[in-house]
Amino acid sequence: MKIADLFKVEGYGVVVTGGASGLGLGFTEALAANGARVTMLDIDAKRIADETKRLQTAGLDVRGEVVDVTDHPRLDKAFDDAAKLYGRLDVVFANAGIDPGPGAIAGWVGSNRQRNEAGALENYTDERWNRVIDINLDGVFATLRAAARHMKPRKTGRIVVTTSIAAYLNEAAIGAAYMATKAGAAHLMRSVALELAAYNITVNAIAPGFFVTNIGGGHAHNPETQKAVAGVVPMHRVGFPKDMAGLALFLASPASDYITGQQISIDGGWSLGVAD
Ligand SMILES: NC(=O)c1ccc[n+]([C@@H]2O[C@H](COP(=O)([O-])OP(=O)(O)OC[C@H]3O[C@@H](n4cnc5c(N)ncnc54)[C@H](O)[C@@H]3O)[C@@H](O)[C@H]2O)c1
Repeated sequence: MKIADLFKVEGYGVVVTGGASGLGLGFTEALAANGARVTMLDIDAKRIADETKRLQTAGLDVRGEVVDVTDHPRLDKAFDDAAKLYGRLDVVFANAGIDPGPGAIAGWVGSNRQRNEAGALENYTDERWNRVIDINLDGVFATLRAAARHMKPRKTGRIVVTTSIAAYLNEAAIGAAYMATKAGAAHLMRSVALELAAYNITVNAIAPGFFVTNIGGGHAHNPETQKAVAGVVPMHRVGFPKDMAGLALFLASPASDYITGQQISIDGGWSLGVAD
């Protein structure tokens, strides 16, 4: 088989949650640039309008809808509309997610770190905990369910969940709820992969390390933060959404036909440990 056929996504119907920014926008661009038809769902009305316009102007088959993944009936309707429009639903990226705010330690790895009482367990509010669970875990569940409803009857499909290396590696600077949701999403992915394997639907996860996106108010754009993190990443640099294109295309295309239930880390070696 030729590479062009192995990685072919042309004509595919695709839905990306959290598609208007960062990694989701990277997935959208990678798939659409290779001929897929992509619907981006996002809670941010301005960003989705701007990005839809930009990508459509560039000639890509992309549309955007304002959808909050915590609104499950609205999410279901958006999936129904996209599947009806495309006449198929081949690939779904369950990607929408939020940063939970500071954890029990203030300061990124590689920088000056101190205890942060506001982020300590005894001060963690129910409101904060529930919001992260609602989006990062329940939102993934609702997205997987919507995807399965459309893919199962056709006996084909690719689902990719954005987890994090936080699914298996704790980072005290990030609020505890994030660790729980990402570990939960990773194991949910495995459970659903097991259930859907007989229907030729693969379910995998991408576990990013540190990527420069707009998460958490855009703290990752801070050059000092990037420098500090790059200092502890074995490849000595942080990641950018364009670094995701290869893995996204791999998991969305026939190239990964027989791979399911796997979480692939993409982190410049960060989760391996400390190097130089
Ligand atoms: N950036 C990183 O370093 C990093 C690392 C590991 C995992 N991740 C994960 O990657 C995913 C994408 O994050 P990102 O870094 O690209 O951040 P981002 O903020 O740039 O993009 C996330 C998008 O999700 C949208 N969103 C947030 N809440 C939503 C909701 N309730 N309904 C619909 N859309 C919603 C936002 O509006 C935004 O457009 C998240 O699941 C995040 O946890 C990011």
